[in-house]
Amino acid sequence: MENKILILFAHPAFEKSRVNRTLTKNLHKIEGITFHDLYEAYPDFDIDIKKEQQLLATHDLIVFHHPFYWYSSPSIIKEYLDLVLEHGWAYGHEGHALEGKYLMHVITTGAKEETYCAQGRNHYTIEQLLTPMEQTASMCNLNYIPPYMVYGSFSIEQQKIEEHRKQLENFYLDFLNGNLNLKNFQGECDINTVLNPKTK
Ligand SMILES: Cc1cc2nc3c(=O)[nH]c(=O)nc-3n(C[C@H](O)[C@H](O)[C@H](O)COP(=O)(O)O)c2cc1C
Repeated sequence: MENKILILFAHPAFEKSRVNRTLTKNLHKIEGITFHDLYEAYPDFDIDIKKEQQLLATHDLIVFHHPFYWYSSPSIIKEYLDLVLEHGWAYGHEGHALEGKYLMHVITTGAKEETYCAQGRNHYTIEQLLTPMEQTASMCNLNYIPPYMVYGSFSIEQQKIEEHRKQLENFYLDFLNGNLNLKNFQGECDINTVLNPKTK
């Protein structure tokens, strides 16, 4: 295995989940992937900073996987960033622990893709809404990769979710085996368009 992937998963109501339940069902079985459910690990938000820093330091691709909540992530991810990305460790003159690693999101939305544009009901693109994360990655010398998107969770068919699951697993497997240069995805609006426009 050439690379290691850390999936930081956050879903505050996972027992009610349909889309993320399917997308994540095999991830803990894949060698080279550490699947880390933040709400399960920290129901009281009592995040173990040193343990999380150790996890980040020992993986090559860091994935924030979550449903879109109020144009952002569920709140534990903000708490995680506030606590774990310490000055002198993640950023600042002496902070180089994350340098050269890759950061991306896997995001499911209730709304359909066409609503995320200037003329649409949500007015902004996902790319625009994720700029705080992109800049956070830049401050920490992480290579920011565009997200893997699953839109329209209220109406998406189960078969389509399965297609996304397989595509995402294959993407991870290719990266784990060293067959994917993630820099090729930089500058795209999302990575699934590049992998296979038909699955969107
Ligand atoms: C508190 C809350 C906030 C949400 N905010 C958004 C949002 O800003 N944009 C959006 O498209 N969907 C939003 N949704 C819908 C969720 O993203 C959607 O239910 C989820 O992606 C479905 O995935 P699941 O089947 O794994 O639960 C929100 C849902 C909740 C409960």
